Amino acid sequence: MVARAVLVTGSNRGLGLEMVRQLARHVTPPDVIIATCRNPEAAQELQQLSKSHKEVNLLKLDVADEGSYAAMVRSVSEMVGDQGLNLLINNAGVAPKSTRITQVKWQQMVDTFLVNSVAPVMLSKAFLPMLKIAATQAEGSGLSVKRAAIINISSVLGSIEKNDKGGIYPYRASKAALNAITKSLSNDVRDSNILVSSVCPGWTQTDMGGKNAALTPEQSIFNVLHLLSTMNETHHGQFYQYDGVKLPW
Ligand SMILES: NC(=O)c1ccc[n+]([C@@H]2O[C@H](COP(=O)([O-])OP(=O)(O)OC[C@H]3O[C@@H](n4cnc5c(N)ncnc54)[C@H](OP(=O)(O)O)[C@@H]3O)[C@@H](O)[C@H]2O)c1
Repeated sequence: MVARAVLVTGSNRGLGLEMVRQLARHVTPPDVIIATCRNPEAAQELQQLSKSHKEVNLLKLDVADEGSYAAMVRSVSEMVGDQGLNLLINNAGVAPKSTRITQVKWQQMVDTFLVNSVAPVMLSKAFLPMLKIAATQAEGSGLSVKRAAIINISSVLGSIEKNDKGGIYPYRASKAALNAITKSLSNDVRDSNILVSSVCPGWTQTDMGGKNAALTPEQSIFNVLHLLSTMNETHHGQFYQYDGVKLPW
């Protein structure tokens, strides 16, 4: 089992949907899988999954709508119960097509930062009390996603060191900011025994990655979930590729 209670943002399609699918079909699935998305009524595949897997709970969440957080957090608290939330996967993301400096637009920068950087830090803050409760359920000070963790789904395109092609301003900068958030959070919550890591799922065939991408969602998420299950202190405050290769900031 990856963890007892898991929450995934942006789980109606792409990698988020595949994460929920593989978690639900796992031989030892989590007891509670909270699949959040902007429009649960229209999320037909998620609805099917929740009908066939009692662990899957659908919950409405537009990560950019801070005003909805308080009620949403109350719902999550009821779903996870007194053992808290073990694993928050900040997966929801956007990638505008903007490329070169001559094309980049003000609003694209603002909107992309809101979803890819601002929301993950504010959601982490909102779920911290529930993550702390989960972290206290295990003895010792070892870190694992089974105990308590925040996984930020980042991108190699957010690596400053690996950026040798330029462009893609909103996406690259927002994922670099997300990585900075991972680092700060990892320092802030170490004493609470909560693991924090950035993970790049690899170039994958989703609406975002396009049909020519190298990996299928099944391949990407199979590897990501395996990586998560192996994570410990050495992964804390670090940036990894789906296959476990460590990435430079
Ligand atoms: N695919 C790749 O090659 C690749 C590579 C590296 C990293 N990543 C990262 O992996 C994550 C998932 O990407 P993907 O490939 O699955 O992309 P995708 O197919 O475009 O799906 C994006 C998901 O994010 C959701 N989302 C966007 N804005 C949201 C908001 N304001 N509130 C809630 N949900 C929102 C979308 O929901 P709606 O349907 O409501 O829009 C959708 O569920 C992203 O963080 C992305 O940056 C992807």
